[in-house]
Amino acid sequence: MNIAVIGTGYVGLVSGVCFSDLGNKVICVDKDQSKIDMLNNMDVPIYEPGLKELIKKNVEKGNLTFTSEISKGVTEADVIIIAVGTPPLPSGEANLSFIEQVAKDIATEMNTYKIVMTKSTVPVGTNEQIQQIISRNTDQPFDVVSVPEFLREGSAVHDTFNPDRIIIGVESKQAEDVIIELHKPLTEKIIVTDIRSAEMIKYASNAFLATKISFINEIANICEKVGADVTKVANGMGLDKRIGSAFLNAGIGYGGSCFPKDTQALIQIAGNEDYEFKLLKSVVQVNNEQRYNIIEKLKQSLGSLSGQTIAIWGLAFKPDTDDVRDAPAKEIIEELNKAGAHIKAYDPIAMENFKSLIEANENIEWCVSAKEATEGSHAVCLLTDWKEFKDLKLLKSVQNGMKQPIFVDGRNVFTKEDIQETGFEYISIGRPSMKGRIPVTVTQ
Ligand code: UGA
Repeated sequence: MNIAVIGTGYVGLVSGVCFSDLGNKVICVDKDQSKIDMLNNMDVPIYEPGLKELIKKNVEKGNLTFTSEISKGVTEADVIIIAVGTPPLPSGEANLSFIEQVAKDIATEMNTYKIVMTKSTVPVGTNEQIQQIISRNTDQPFDVVSVPEFLREGSAVHDTFNPDRIIIGVESKQAEDVIIELHKPLTEKIIVTDIRSAEMIKYASNAFLATKISFINEIANICEKVGADVTKVANGMGLDKRIGSAFLNAGIGYGGSCFPKDTQALIQIAGNEDYEFKLLKSVVQVNNEQRYNIIEKLKQSLGSLSGQTIAIWGLAFKPDTDDVRDAPAKEIIEELNKAGAHIKAYDPIAMENFKSLIEANENIEWCVSAKEATEGSHAVCLLTDWKEFKDLKLLKSVQNGMKQPIFVDGRNVFTKEDIQETGFEYISIGRPSMKGRIPVTVTQ
């Protein structure tokens, strides 16, 4: 099948590359010439495990090309995938201006029957708007299909090849058959539904996952008060098949480009229909507050934070990505900065992106390794659960270089047994604080 993908962000680029790997001829289009130049040089604008190798393989096979000219993509394609961004407006609503422009551009370039498949996350009713925009700008026949995307950053390639389900919102039998054929190699679990329900499935899924996270974070906060351990509670809950164990990891809350944006958008979608989504509003509020618990924990342990040096391990909103959009690390570092602390920050991949998020000052130091960040620090805070940080050897090796061996684990990555092998005072989320057994020599 000939496919054009418009937009080379996480969704567009990964989908395009994976469809090319399945043997389709894919042309990825982006108006940002610098991104296209990078891709043509086999340089990937985002960090995503496995993606670079897959791009190289399929470019060399002749299945994958990149262009900034939409006409090149549309003319040849049987299926045109819309995967441009829908960033939030100040109201929380999704900004649909990129979608609208792309729909116009596609219509202008159409030469025969086309299927336009929307993968961008769009509010209910948007695909009907896309249909209207295209109709106004072409006489060619076409169908619009909604196929929401469920991949996660950091495991995007794996998720695309191993989807839990494919949702196809479609009204035409001709388009349905083609889109089923396209997705068949990925899974048997293909659900065909109407377009509005498909659009809603995407928002409802993200809102539900966000709800699970805020729920377990509140349970964690209560566990701290009653002396229970949220990890054990989550394990016990998760074994109930009706609940499931995924997305029950307590921590500093969710970030990224999806949950924060999509929860706000769904609240607004409901609000536009005079419906107050009370539950989801609370989910957002809990999430916004959760990241600040780290500051309270540090204060309880260190007293005033003024003049104290705090090491930060992890800046990305989650591991295996360089994405720092809505990363809890931003507010945490800003708050520590306001309290007069000196910050020594390190992230294996997301450092450069993070630097552009935050105003530089003499109290924020960028380090080249996890170890360097801890040297001379009064405490270390783990904010992103990168594999590199879940290393007991690393933890043991840094304690003697610290002014105080305090470890605040914002992602609950270590166990009681791990900590006992160290000299750390260990503070985590929703679990009792612990002290390691090994004496340490504290740096003066
Ligand atoms: C999320 C969804 O998981 C994808 O299904 C969806 O396709 C995507 O949004 C999207 O709409 O494009 P993503 O934001 O990439 O994917 O990452 P997640 O793995 O879902 O993590 C989101 C945030 O929740 C991260 O900050 C993570 O640290 C946090 N999280 C996740 C927790 O705090 N606890 C958990 O148990 C799980």
